[in-house]
Amino acid sequence: MIKTRPIKAGVVGWPISHSLSPRLHSYWLQKYNLDGEYLAYEVKPEELGDFIKSLPKKNITGLNLTVPHKEIVFPFLDDVDDVARKIGAVNTIIVRDGRLYGTNTDGYGFLTNLMENAPEWSAESGPAVIIGAGGAARAAIVSLLEAGVPEIRLINRTKSRAEKLGDIYEDSRLKICDWQDRSKSLSDAALLVNTTTLGMKGQPALDIDLTALPVSAVVYDIVYNPLETDLLKQAASRGNHCVDGLGMLLYQAAPAFQAWFGKQPTVDQSLRDHVLAGLT
Ligand code: ATR
Repeated sequence: MIKTRPIKAGVVGWPISHSLSPRLHSYWLQKYNLDGEYLAYEVKPEELGDFIKSLPKKNITGLNLTVPHKEIVFPFLDDVDDVARKIGAVNTIIVRDGRLYGTNTDGYGFLTNLMENAPEWSAESGPAVIIGAGGAARAAIVSLLEAGVPEIRLINRTKSRAEKLGDIYEDSRLKICDWQDRSKSLSDAALLVNTTTLGMKGQPALDIDLTALPVSAVVYDIVYNPLETDLLKQAASRGNHCVDGLGMLLYQAAPAFQAWFGKQPTVDQSLRDHVLAGLT
């Protein structure tokens, strides 16, 4: 009998110790009894190119990328798909026949988490308000425009960053609003998304008055530590349906796992509990 080697994948970042991805992928490997491993690789930005190019030689089948590598990895890949180009970041690499293929599953994770946890929401429900203009905002914008939302109001403390995204996406549905108008901009919105780091453990809360937001709107915070941010607490207390950020992390991992290990994994409560137990 031919002994096959375990399939190797992992996550690369700098630093990497806080990543929950090894915990998440190892859970699925064990659950589906697959012969594979998923490790954490701590690689300095200046060493990223050499590390990426060595993947085929090291028999590594795939990688996730995290801060600060997602935006700087493009030159080291053989092929990058449209979604990664649009988001301006690669979070997943698949090695096939010695070639390195880059994609981005964050937009998929963002939208799938929203649709699974707020089934009453649909793209046609109405305008979306997005707070933030970093990488997570780009994944949210790309997936919501693609889903067909009628309007996105994009609001960032540093307005020029939001305006830059307006220039990149060139879509008349994407409107840039002032930071000081963030509370006013909630009127008739069907979705409010926080993509900033505000509300994260150790960070101040997002300061926003929800009075103008319809109670039928969904409030989605991509922060998952803590799971219930001040924003979500405030929204839930006035009756808005809330979606937390943990699901985005779990759903973005699923297509990568399937591509590397050949099994479509499920996202369920026991996975959530397992990953949550790894939060520090
Ligand atoms: P990511 O790629 O994870 O989205 P990022 O690029 O560092 O992270 O973006 C962080 C986002 O949080 C930005 O929109 C940032 O606003 P600025 O562009 O003005 O910096 C936002 N953010 C972080 N701290 C903030 C604060 N104290 N007040 C308002 N916005 C804040």
